[in-house]
Amino acid sequence: ASNSNKQLFQAEPELLANSVTVLKKRYLRKKESGQIESPKDLFIRVAKNIAEAELKFDSNADVDSVADIFYNQMASLKFLPNSPTLMNAGNSLQQLSACFVLPVEDSLEGIFEAVKHTALIHKSGGGTGFSFSRLRPKDDTVKTTKGVSSGPVSFMSVFDAATETIKQGGMRRGANMGILRVDHPDIMEFIYAKQDKTKLTNFNLSVGITEEFMKSVKNGTEYDILTPRDRKKTGSKNAKEVFNEMVRLAWEGGDPGIIFLDRINNTNPTPAEGEMESTNPCGEQPLLPYESCNLGSINLVKFVKNGKIDWDDLRNTCNIAVRFLDNVIEMNNYPIKQIDEMTKKNRKIGLGIMGWADMLVMLNIPYNSDKATLLAEEVMKFIRDEGRKMSVELAEKRGSFPSFDKSIYPALGFKAMRNATITTIAPTGTISIIAGASSGIEPYFALAYYRNVMDNNKLPEVNPYFLEKAHESKFYSESLMNKLADAGNAHDLTEVPEDIRKVFVTSHEIEPVWHVKMQAAFQKYTDNAVSKTVNFQNTATIEDVEKAYMLAYDLGCKGITIYRDGSRLGQVLNIGSVK
Ligand code: CDP
Repeated sequence: ASNSNKQLFQAEPELLANSVTVLKKRYLRKKESGQIESPKDLFIRVAKNIAEAELKFDSNADVDSVADIFYNQMASLKFLPNSPTLMNAGNSLQQLSACFVLPVEDSLEGIFEAVKHTALIHKSGGGTGFSFSRLRPKDDTVKTTKGVSSGPVSFMSVFDAATETIKQGGMRRGANMGILRVDHPDIMEFIYAKQDKTKLTNFNLSVGITEEFMKSVKNGTEYDILTPRDRKKTGSKNAKEVFNEMVRLAWEGGDPGIIFLDRINNTNPTPAEGEMESTNPCGEQPLLPYESCNLGSINLVKFVKNGKIDWDDLRNTCNIAVRFLDNVIEMNNYPIKQIDEMTKKNRKIGLGIMGWADMLVMLNIPYNSDKATLLAEEVMKFIRDEGRKMSVELAEKRGSFPSFDKSIYPALGFKAMRNATITTIAPTGTISIIAGASSGIEPYFALAYYRNVMDNNKLPEVNPYFLEKAHESKFYSESLMNKLADAGNAHDLTEVPEDIRKVFVTSHEIEPVWHVKMQAAFQKYTDNAVSKTVNFQNTATIEDVEKAYMLAYDLGCKGITIYRDGSRLGQVLNIGSVK
């Protein structure tokens, strides 16, 4: 029963010029009339489509009112779902998730079945993660052919080639995560797999670290190498030496990262459904084989009012976001049957945030401070608690996720829960541009840069909060903004008051320790994992990277990804240089 008196979809989307450019390039679809939809049409299309799920639980649901509520959250840029939902909801594709994990079995059929599924997922805009740990090692025998196996690293290049040829939804290239357990016989080859920077370009690599391995690293002892099939000891390696090589290679070019596999499984909400062996491409979403997850992020910028956080409004958005993401599971058209089944057993959703760096400057808090990490915990705890409350409320009407009884929740005192996980912190690479917010929980990369190389009177693009501060505190000048764009940061600009320089701190001025501490603060209240790059200056040493790895382990992170400035060929962003 729709409320015909009410005016729906009234507010115009609050978009910046930049956001409109991104939407036009990738997200706006052709309507049946042949016309290209407007950004407003896009949000209406998504809102209406996702609200339709309400009818599955209540035949009298007021779908229009729910659609209007969803629309207002998106149009005001308080909440945005992940890109596949924005692109595909209400279109023939209807594939709405960003994250998938596929099993790779130790047989040619199994491997190429996974390649086929990967192609289908990439075509529809999703990213895939795999563990290659089940594959027999290189030079192991192959019974049927009396030959030898090529090994996991060699097979990964087949997946890489498939990805290379398929652009997601014709729009962007797919991404992959490749994981190998540290106790696999081919671990060294895996660690070196991306040393040649022209190889596996569509893969992020992470070594799957076990607790036994970390203990051996700390004690300086050997650890067991196991056969993939029956997990029998086939050798041993010095843990510290392997660890050092991982660290050195990451220092050299960013890959491999590491994920703490045992730790991820210790917090597996549904252990009875299987073991988690991989994450999605950017590392924030551990999943069971054949599971998928849809993400959405709250734009924190919109909840700072008069220098304070509007917790009531944030609660309201959390509630709507959880309802929205649970509806997405219903409306989703899954690329293969196994994914449909597995996803609906646990009904995982991943609600996170963007605009964290923006929120901090709006509240005058430096990113690299205890005040910031404490606030991170407070904000994330609030989102997780409110998200859970909403998931319980939904469960009371819609039922718990089917594997609830055997999940960790009954023992935690929950009587019902709609979703096995609620929170994930995504990179928000594209949706943060649409929202005009800083990405995920990352600090600012630069405070200003020159947008156009060709333009002779190049005008620097300055961080809007810094610009506002410059006018307010009366230190604005055109020449200062040029200096800011040249340097990328305000570190040495004595014209800027020191306390303001401290608040407007950028990524490379922030000690790696603070990057890790921030990741750990958010992880504390995140069911899934946290997307974060720990940035190092070019001059950082291998020992610096090692320290960060150890700190990530000690502080309870689920993994760590590092990047040393300038260490990768064709680096996209360069501080102070022209984009
Ligand atoms: O901002 P947006 O929703 O586009 O995505 P994101 O938060 O940057 O990335 C979330 C997830 O989307 C990643 O971890 C991948 O699983 C997937 N993704 C992908 O498959 N291909 C890309 N080019 C970017 C993201």
